[in-house]
Amino acid sequence: MGEFGFVIHPLSMQDVMRKYPIAKRIPNKVMRKVIEKLPPVKVSEITGITSSFAEAKGYFVGVPLLPDQLLSLPLDTVERKIVKACQIAEGMGAQVIGLGAFTSVIGDKGISIARQLKTPVTTGNTYTVAIALEAVKKVCKVIGKDLSRSEIVIVGANGAIGRVCSKILAREVKYLSLVSRNVRKLEELAKDILMETGLSVHISDRLQKTLKRADVVIAVSSSADVVIQPEFLKEGAVVCDVARPRDVSARVAKERKDVVVIEGGLVEVPGDVNFNFNFGLPPRVCYACMAETIILALEGRYENYSLGDSLETDKVVEMLELGRKHGFKLAAFRSFDRALEYRDILSVKEKIVDNAV
Ligand SMILES: NC(=O)c1ccc[n+]([C@@H]2O[C@H](COP(=O)([O-])OP(=O)(O)OC[C@H]3O[C@@H](n4cnc5c(N)ncnc54)[C@H](OP(=O)(O)O)[C@@H]3O)[C@@H](O)[C@H]2O)c1
Repeated sequence: MGEFGFVIHPLSMQDVMRKYPIAKRIPNKVMRKVIEKLPPVKVSEITGITSSFAEAKGYFVGVPLLPDQLLSLPLDTVERKIVKACQIAEGMGAQVIGLGAFTSVIGDKGISIARQLKTPVTTGNTYTVAIALEAVKKVCKVIGKDLSRSEIVIVGANGAIGRVCSKILAREVKYLSLVSRNVRKLEELAKDILMETGLSVHISDRLQKTLKRADVVIAVSSSADVVIQPEFLKEGAVVCDVARPRDVSARVAKERKDVVVIEGGLVEVPGDVNFNFNFGLPPRVCYACMAETIILALEGRYENYSLGDSLETDKVVEMLELGRKHGFKLAAFRSFDRALEYRDILSVKEKIVDNAV
């Protein structure tokens, strides 16, 4: 049986309060200082993963740091904590370890963490790209949007996930805009894309202006705060928010009934999996980065897989195939922590048509 570890961390103070109810009675500022000092802990054992070919079990290990703390504390302090968490998973028998959410965003994205461990490591970003793109294509099909004629904007395009999403989509679409803050890096990426695919892409560091014309948005920034506000979005826009914490403001759900926002990177796991930990998703559903770690364990592929900034497009295809082989599926759509039914998507479509008449 394949064994894996997966490193998680709280995405907000609400998550901390769920784990440590006493935090509700402690001022935020003090609690932030307290969690900085807490060591990583085993959170739960993951059981019941069975595919037609193999079985796996795993362990969640928690690094008690919030997203902005992971980004702003000294890198060596943060890395030391993440390495410690991985060593806890190693000690329990993990043969491959996944880095969740911002533990995979800091520093060189897993490379130096992997060097400090005996066990191979992955960020899970390769399968995240595969599943995010599958979700975007499916939701566009439901709402009747032709991707090849749509204006697509990737927010956080300079990142590990954003770069590969951009490179893959550049082969399939005509109108692609890349948004990030570092324009020099965007220029290099645009040059690479032109050489590799022949597509000339639009680049910008002006998010609001670029989103005004976006039919489809893939949000993959590593901002600790929301970056997409309701007033930024075009009528009828489809947004796939892959970022954790989210890029899209919760106000969009209340104020923009004419756009569709889906959570990207959600996967249904084969077998009767029990995570023994509530991370806010329906039973048997997990994030694609977790799923990639599970797939590697099921396959016995104990190797560093998705590390660093430059992921390989060939590996996206490989991960998609391995996921299918073991029975992983794109999960039902969700939006702002709730199930999103087809009829909800179709009602947005009707609203757009009504407004156009
Ligand atoms: N749903 C899932 O299963 C899943 C799996 C893995 C990761 N994730 C999430 O996906 C996100 C991206 O991960 P990653 O590994 O690709 O991170 P990354 O490599 O750090 O890339 C994110 C990019 O976002 C850009 N950025 C940061 N703040 C921004 C802002 N305010 N506006 C516009 N762009 C901004 C940065 O480029 P510039 O410096 O040029 O702006 C950065 O290169 C994270 O939130 C992560 O937690 C989700």
